[in-house]
Amino acid sequence: MTPSDVKATLSFSDGSASMDLPIYKGTVGPDVIDIRKLYAQTGKFTYDPGFLSTASCNSNITYIDGDKGELLYRGYPIEQLATNCDFLETCHLLLYGELPDLAKKTAFVKLVTNHTMVNEQMQFFLRGFRRDAHPMAVMTGLVGGLSAFYHDSTDINNPQHREIAAIRLIAKMPTLVAMSYKYSIGQPFIYPRNDLGYTANFMHMMFATPCETYETNDVLVRAMDRIFILHADHEQNASTSTVRLCGSSGTNPFAAIAAGVACLWGPAHGGANEAALNMLEDIQRNGGIEKIGEFIKNVKDKNSTVKLMGFGHRVYKNYDPRAKLMRETCYEVLNALGLQDDPLFKLAMALEKIALEDEYFVSRKLYPNVDFYSGIVQRAIGIPVSLFTAIFALARTVGWIAQLNEMIGDPEYKIGRPRQLFVGSTSRDVLPIGQR
Ligand code: ACO
Repeated sequence: MTPSDVKATLSFSDGSASMDLPIYKGTVGPDVIDIRKLYAQTGKFTYDPGFLSTASCNSNITYIDGDKGELLYRGYPIEQLATNCDFLETCHLLLYGELPDLAKKTAFVKLVTNHTMVNEQMQFFLRGFRRDAHPMAVMTGLVGGLSAFYHDSTDINNPQHREIAAIRLIAKMPTLVAMSYKYSIGQPFIYPRNDLGYTANFMHMMFATPCETYETNDVLVRAMDRIFILHADHEQNASTSTVRLCGSSGTNPFAAIAAGVACLWGPAHGGANEAALNMLEDIQRNGGIEKIGEFIKNVKDKNSTVKLMGFGHRVYKNYDPRAKLMRETCYEVLNALGLQDDPLFKLAMALEKIALEDEYFVSRKLYPNVDFYSGIVQRAIGIPVSLFTAIFALARTVGWIAQLNEMIGDPEYKIGRPRQLFVGSTSRDVLPIGQR
């Protein structure tokens, strides 16, 4: 953080002493006003529910310019990473700060590949769930459960433990997601195949059976890999902030990532991909393209709770760059599968066109986000809708762990402990039960 020559001055209309607040500059993006001494000097807190104006940390991992619609991982534009790199190269970049050269890539791929199996006992843990449990309920349990199986990597203050936990999490997430899927459909678990790449192996564990191998299709593997790259990190979003807050107590990395999985599940966050596809299917069932006008009218009605899922973003006030890449992938996958006339894709494009021209969406700067098209791609690949958010969790794991490790390594790191504006009852006496 570079101190700025400019200082902010906080003054009060009641004549109390004013206070100078330091300002820091990042390499790019808004400056921040340092309010750490505010309470000690004024006895006042700041108030910012939803963190609309609060930088909770300094970070050198991911940068978003929401007005431009720009997303950089460690300085590299997402478009270049999605076009020129694969997911494990992106993981290396997020974890260690640099894209690997060939030798480093080979070593990293080998390291991750050596950890794809999960402790056999995890199967019995998984079998305790109902088969119709939501995959995110199962994943929250399984990821938290890893801390009960891998005791040698649970000390968050030990850099080697943190590194091995990171590799284990990245390597085992595909195995756990595929296991939860197989369990839900009553098929035997398929063990990882280490002769396959990361993403092809995930698809093998998802779609092979003991009776039949899964023939990987390069277009579909590349599409799934791109989904992983686009979801790998996204700055201090709700689930990442959850992981940081949870990890700030010194809990083990598996527990902190399980907290991130739980947060991601919500429909305003990672659950939006599932909600967006369900919404498209609903519109299709109720009349399709003809009925879009009625649906949009409902979305705009102040008295309805209907939202255009897959639209809008706290940070992007322009087209989400990931949504553009996802739309491109959508074309490729549907063409490769001969599904050019897919009605849901046509419906999504028609909805997007209307929304982008409608005053309601234009004035609120609501654009498609990554979830608007990712569901159509996943559905075409054969992924069931209920598994979409678990796949998001798989991909985001590297971002969570990179952010967690960055926080623990930061000399300024402290346990996260927000304060509040208390508006409840002041001190009062407990009355005997008969007098309440
Ligand atoms: N459909 C209709 N109206 C919307 C939508 C939407 N999808 N999103 C925002 N708005 C409206 C709000 O009603 C509000 O209108 P108002 O000013 O008249 O009250 C205005 O736009 C501002 O919206 P907020 O909810 O204040 O914006 P916020 O930054 O808090 O929320 C969020 C962002 C949660 C993503 C929201 O846009 C939303 O719920 N979108 C749908 C869910 C979704 O797609 N989530 C995925 C996010 S991306 C991700 O996690 C990968």
